Amino acid sequence: MTRSNAADLGRSILIVGASRGLGHAMAAEFAGRGWRVVGTVRVAGTQLHSLAAERPDAVEIETLDMTDHDQIRAVRDRLSGRPFDVVFINGGIVNRAPSDTTADVSTAEFTHVMATNVLGVMRAVEALGGLVRTGGVIGVMSSGQGSIANNANGTNDVYRASKAALNQAMASYAGRHADHGRAIVLMAPGWIRTDLGGPGAPFGAEDAMPQITDTLIAQLETPGLRFLDRHGQAVPW
Ligand SMILES: NC(=O)c1ccc[n+]([C@@H]2O[C@H](COP(=O)([O-])OP(=O)(O)OC[C@H]3O[C@@H](n4cnc5c(N)ncnc54)[C@H](OP(=O)(O)O)[C@@H]3O)[C@@H](O)[C@H]2O)c1
Repeated sequence: MTRSNAADLGRSILIVGASRGLGHAMAAEFAGRGWRVVGTVRVAGTQLHSLAAERPDAVEIETLDMTDHDQIRAVRDRLSGRPFDVVFINGGIVNRAPSDTTADVSTAEFTHVMATNVLGVMRAVEALGGLVRTGGVIGVMSSGQGSIANNANGTNDVYRASKAALNQAMASYAGRHADHGRAIVLMAPGWIRTDLGGPGAPFGAEDAMPQITDTLIAQLETPGLRFLDRHGQAVPW
C-alpha cells in the first residue's frame, strides 16, 4: 500500500480476479489511496479476504468465475445502480507448459486458456463495463506478450495468442462504444513475480502496482482506446 490521496476519496473500483498476485496488489493499492474497492474471488480464504478483514471500511468481496456467464450476470445485477470510476478485469491464466506451441498444446488446454483470457474477460467487460460512469475507465490486464508487433521470438505461443485475441476483442468493443465517453485501457504490466509470472521476474506485484495505479488513474476523463505499459507509454499493437 502507498500513500493516501485526499483527491481520491469517494472513488471506487471493481477488480475482477483480486484473490492474489496483481489483482490483490491492485486492491491493496487502491484501498491504500482511499478508494472503495470491490474485488472478486472464486474461493474462500484468499489474500483478498485478509485485506477485507483489515480494511472493512474500504474492501468488499464478490464471488465470480469469469468462465461462468451466469455468475457474471449475477454480479452485474447485484452491483447495478452503483457507478464505478474504474472496472478492471485482471484475471487470467497461462497454460501449464508455456513452451508448448499452439500445435502442441492439448485442445482442452488451448480452449481453457482462450475461454478464460478472451471469452471470460470479454463477457465480464460487456456485462460490467456498463457500471462505469461517464469519464471512467474500463480496463483489462493484457500483456506485452499480446503485442503482435513486438513478437520477435515466438515464446509463450498460446498465452501470447490469447492476449492478442483479447486486444483485438477490446478494439472491437471500443469500436462499438466509440462515443460512450469512457477510457478503454489494455494494461501491459511488465514481467512481475506472481504465481503466473514465476520467481524469476524482476519486480514484485507491490513494486509495480503504484505505477499501474498511477497510469490507470491518469486515464480518467480521457475517453478512447489505449494499449499502455505500466508507465503510461503506448505499446505497439
Ligand atoms: N505476472 C506477470 O508477469 C504478468 C505479465 C503480464 C500480464 N499478466 C496478467 O496479469 C493478470 C494477473 O496475473 P498474475 O500475474 O497476478 O497471476 P496470478 O497470481 O496467477 O493471479 C491470477 C488471478 O486471476 C484469477 N483468475 C484466473 N482464472 C479466473 C477465472 N476463471 N475467473 C476469475 N478469476 C480468475 C485468479 O483467481 P484464483 O485465485 O481464483 O485462481 C487470480 O486472482 C493476468 O491476466 C495475467 O495474464 C501478468
